[in-house]
Amino acid sequence: MPPFNRVSGHTATCVRDRDTITAQNVDVSTRFGLMCACHQGSNEGDTPVMKIAVFVGSIRNGRHGRTVGQWALDQLQARGDGNTYELIDLIEQDLDQLTAAVPPIMAAGTYDEVKTTAWSGTISSYDGFIFVTPEYNASVPGTMKNAFDLLKVEWEGKPVGFLSYGGGGGVRAVNHWRDIVANVGMLPLEAQAALAFDDHFVDFQFAPNEQTVELLEAVAAELVQVGEKATVNA
Ligand SMILES: Cc1cc2nc3c(=O)[nH]c(=O)nc-3n(C[C@H](O)[C@H](O)[C@H](O)COP(=O)(O)O)c2cc1C
Repeated sequence: MPPFNRVSGHTATCVRDRDTITAQNVDVSTRFGLMCACHQGSNEGDTPVMKIAVFVGSIRNGRHGRTVGQWALDQLQARGDGNTYELIDLIEQDLDQLTAAVPPIMAAGTYDEVKTTAWSGTISSYDGFIFVTPEYNASVPGTMKNAFDLLKVEWEGKPVGFLSYGGGGGVRAVNHWRDIVANVGMLPLEAQAALAFDDHFVDFQFAPNEQTVELLEAVAAELVQVGEKATVNA
């Protein structure tokens, strides 16, 4: 089996394997309509191509999140490592507040809500993530947490790195994110790019420097490494 886009670390969710895959007694074969990146244009046995999302989670007017996320996307694409990098900007997603009667863990990828079904398709199509997160009141932004909580299996088994920012670099938000993502079975990376305003912003405008580049590169390198390892071990 050549999976990367997995559920529970046991099975593949790629539609190419749709006739054979199951996860923890849950039939996942019809849940994902998109083929994972590792099977797009690559031959069996090749190093898998990962499709990685830079997920911008703040939606405030005048937010810094999009600027930081766009910079990160440009840096990642400039790596020229053969992987595909895209931006998911939360402000561009049409999502409900989590009001569904069926908890996502029970829904197992099948939702009554049209918007959540679309969100499920979006997240399922990625093999790994970089969360671009501010710190709000010593924790994660509520809107980003809501978007995360809407789903479960779509995140599961996938590596996630953090690019945070704030007075103290957003470290407290990332500490909380680590618990949250681990709870759904994601693979949080050790490397972490925590951008303190004093070091990476000038007059409260994002001003990346050499150190900013190095911090992001450490996250990107580990993300790709963990992704490749997960593929080999799958
Ligand atoms: C509701 C709220 C709470 C905040 N709490 C914190 C905090 O706990 N720690 C911190 O470093 N910055 C905090 N800040 C400041 C943010 O780091 C800063 O506004 C940052 O630009 C937010 O990211 P954004 O512009 O992408 O929304 C807070 C900002 C808001 C709006």
